Amino acid sequence: MSALTIDNIGLLVTNDPELGEGPLGIVRDAALVCENERVVAVQRAGHADADERIDAGGRCVIPGFVDSHTHLVFAGERGDEFAARMAGAPYAAGGIRETVAATRAATVKALRAAAARRRREATRAGITQVEVKSGYALDVEGEARLCALARELTTDVTLLGAHVVPQEYEGRADDYVALVCGEMIAVSAAHTRWIDVFCERGAFDADQSRAVLEAGRSAGLGLRIHANQLGHGPGVQLGVELGAASADHCTYLSDDDVAALAGSSTVATFLPATDFSTRQPYPDARRAIDAGVSVALATNCNPGSSYTTSMAFCIALAVRDMRMTADEALQAATLGGARALRRTDIGHLAPGARADAVLLDAPSHAHLVYRPGVPLVAMTIACGAVAWRDESVRLRA
Ligand code: NIG
Repeated sequence: MSALTIDNIGLLVTNDPELGEGPLGIVRDAALVCENERVVAVQRAGHADADERIDAGGRCVIPGFVDSHTHLVFAGERGDEFAARMAGAPYAAGGIRETVAATRAATVKALRAAAARRRREATRAGITQVEVKSGYALDVEGEARLCALARELTTDVTLLGAHVVPQEYEGRADDYVALVCGEMIAVSAAHTRWIDVFCERGAFDADQSRAVLEAGRSAGLGLRIHANQLGHGPGVQLGVELGAASADHCTYLSDDDVAALAGSSTVATFLPATDFSTRQPYPDARRAIDAGVSVALATNCNPGSSYTTSMAFCIALAVRDMRMTADEALQAATLGGARALRRTDIGHLAPGARADAVLLDAPSHAHLVYRPGVPLVAMTIACGAVAWRDESVRLRA
């Protein structure tokens, strides 16, 4: 039996109101006891005994971040496109094809190494669970290759064959949709938990998106949708109608979109680093939360619209520009992400949960917003073991 205890926690966010104060279930002066990859107890500090004991020295501990929207497996980068955008060029879905060309040309070894590097970067940023999408091959073999590589990083793999229409299908979008719905899903489904589609002008329309999601569902996959990123459109309501676990982006929400989400089990996943990197307006998360919408925050790490693994950055943007409180933003980046992945084992630190936690070099999670850009993650614990620690942060043994 392997046991790990974090003792002398000044402020522990459990995300379980039955364990502590408020919706975050905050416990002060706490110890978090983990055994065999699970949380077994939250108790008073100073009574802890374990194989490995970490003295938090009064710092804050939060659940590990659950990043429910990433595109970690790709080759190349698009820094020039980003620079042009900062100089006034608009973001367009077509840029995806540049990454498709680089990814198709890359070896498995190179793709694996690049994806693993990004995953390590995410661990350093406190992310203990990721969803990873395919979507930069856009052919049957290539998408299967990306899904298999993603499966080396996570159990939450998403087939995004319907990312854009590839060059060779220009003018024949329906033929490409048929390929995705048939052979592509059949070949990739074994590595995959989810199906996704980019429902947007310049990508796939409502009928095409519906066809992809229904085909995925028939193959036993859960549904996700890229919706309302670049303008108002049918994506959010289509996702709700089909029972998608998550509608992602939600940058443009009409009153009807908000009402549909509020009456549904579909999580609205906001991706504020994307709005930052594409110079889009930020969505009004306050309006959605006040209407009763279940929300998540995710990084959307990808080379085009959001090349970051920093959930802290997303939290800071959500509080500064989307009218979320620091408590709401933290919960959206942890428990919200877990809900967007329909998982009950992560995103909280109640007994029985997977022992995924982050020790911040700060007295409270509010410092993630108060100290923007500062790397406050002192230690990431994944499945009850130290996955990363910042050696420059002194912790007593
Ligand atoms: O979620 N919107 C579609 N896919 C990505 C962008 C991918 C890219 O530009 O390479 C996104 O923002």
